[in-house]
Amino acid sequence: MILILDFGSQYTQLIARCVRESNVYCEIHPFNIPLEKIRQLRPKGIILSGSPASVYQENAPQVQGELFDFPVPFLGICYGMGLINRAGGGEVARADQREYGLADLFIKDNSDLFHGFTQDKGVRVWMSHGDHMTSLPEGWNVLAQSTNSPIAAFSNPERRLFGVQFHPEVTHTPRGKETLNNFLFLICKCEPTWTMAHFIETSIETISKRVGGNRVLCALSGGVDSSVAATLVHRAIGDRLICIFVNNGLLRQREAEEVCQLGGRFGECFRYVDASARFVSALQGVEDPEEKRRRIGHLFIEVFEEEANRLGEIPYLTQGTLYPDVIESVSSVGPSATIKTHHNVGGLPEKMKLQIIEPLRELFKDEVRRLGQELGLPTEMIKRQPFPGPGLAVRIVGEVTEERLQILREADAIVMHEIRVAGFHDKVWQSFAVLLPTRTVGVMGDERTYENVVALRVVNSQDGMTADWVPLPSELLGRISNRIINEVRGVGRVVYDISSKPPATIEWE
Ligand code: XMP
Repeated sequence: MILILDFGSQYTQLIARCVRESNVYCEIHPFNIPLEKIRQLRPKGIILSGSPASVYQENAPQVQGELFDFPVPFLGICYGMGLINRAGGGEVARADQREYGLADLFIKDNSDLFHGFTQDKGVRVWMSHGDHMTSLPEGWNVLAQSTNSPIAAFSNPERRLFGVQFHPEVTHTPRGKETLNNFLFLICKCEPTWTMAHFIETSIETISKRVGGNRVLCALSGGVDSSVAATLVHRAIGDRLICIFVNNGLLRQREAEEVCQLGGRFGECFRYVDASARFVSALQGVEDPEEKRRRIGHLFIEVFEEEANRLGEIPYLTQGTLYPDVIESVSSVGPSATIKTHHNVGGLPEKMKLQIIEPLRELFKDEVRRLGQELGLPTEMIKRQPFPGPGLAVRIVGEVTEERLQILREADAIVMHEIRVAGFHDKVWQSFAVLLPTRTVGVMGDERTYENVVALRVVNSQDGMTADWVPLPSELLGRISNRIINEVRGVGRVVYDISSKPPATIEWE
């Protein structure tokens, strides 16, 4: 494995994804992880990430002195490069000119890190730094230069320490992957053995060993993560996995049927509970979004527990927790950190005293999708967009009623259909309709109407933490609007949400 030490760069997860795309397993840990822990991980190489700080600043995140005594190669990226250089006795200072964006890199030495590159020929790289290396320790080599950085990459060949000023992990550095691969395979001598087939094999073994002859519960929602987790556990223990799907009545059109179809794969151990009426009645008269979430969460636990109790003693629960939820981030996450708190059905394991099995906790979302494919799940399922646990309840502003749910379902189905036909479904993070029970005036035929507004929300995002609205073609917007107003009774106006996150959120409530 490769160890990535995180100094707070926004790109740290990208480094990990690049490494894994090359079929090498890696983990991200905070920069101040105890040395003993590093010893236990037995990395074949260590990558130091970038950081918003400057190495010479007071309170800047530093490494422990003995870190560089580990007899493995190191690669420092940006800030990490400065750390390695300073630890060896070189100097880092504020650059007269910040270098941000694309730059041309000229390779001076193509023996290892830049193996396969042509010497002195410019290659495009992405830079984002305000500091630069002003000197290197005796005996270290300059591997590359850029216009503003006379030392844009270096090595200490004896100790196998490497540093690059640019970011090889971002797509704007076209040959960045090659540079990282040289570090992984030429320098660290890693083997490309981290594949999904290999992951499936080892997970099945671990799960079977842990569970023994016991049964495992799963709250199946039909989302990518819970479906893939369930399929994996099912492979390991067969019908000792019990999947419970609770229909909370807050699902989109035909969604319950689709999840039941998926559940068919689990045969006898799939249980469908239709609790829609209970949820809708629990939401009667509630307008406050947090109160809606709270009631939905509590009721879910209640229903799930009732169903599970019928099945006798089951000690385990499997959940689709992903790696980004587990990484102990050193970056300041700001207000988005609280978003996560309402995502999981918190409370379920504690209340029912269940031990958790999280087979996906080492994986990124794109890896989960690949895993799903390898496990033979249908493509439409793997490509599903995220959908909030509280469902349409957070897409109806104000009180949730059966009638409003029906209006929203119809409008949302039109949005999804048109977005799919226009080829946007797989390109955007989410696309959906929101019902605003604000009545506005209109005319239809000769009649004056007074009906609700539907807002259309289509966003791009990497991880849901930040998001941008998507400038859809106006013909597509027009078609969606026309169809909704013509076909959905109760809607008289359609508006397009052009807010980014932050300051807005993706969902309306
Ligand atoms: P917001 O609205 O907070 O959403 O910008 C960020 C991402 O999270 C999803 N989301 C939820 N997912 N339970 C979930 O499982 C929730 O309560 C919840 N609220 C928001 C949202 O769809 C988006 O992808």
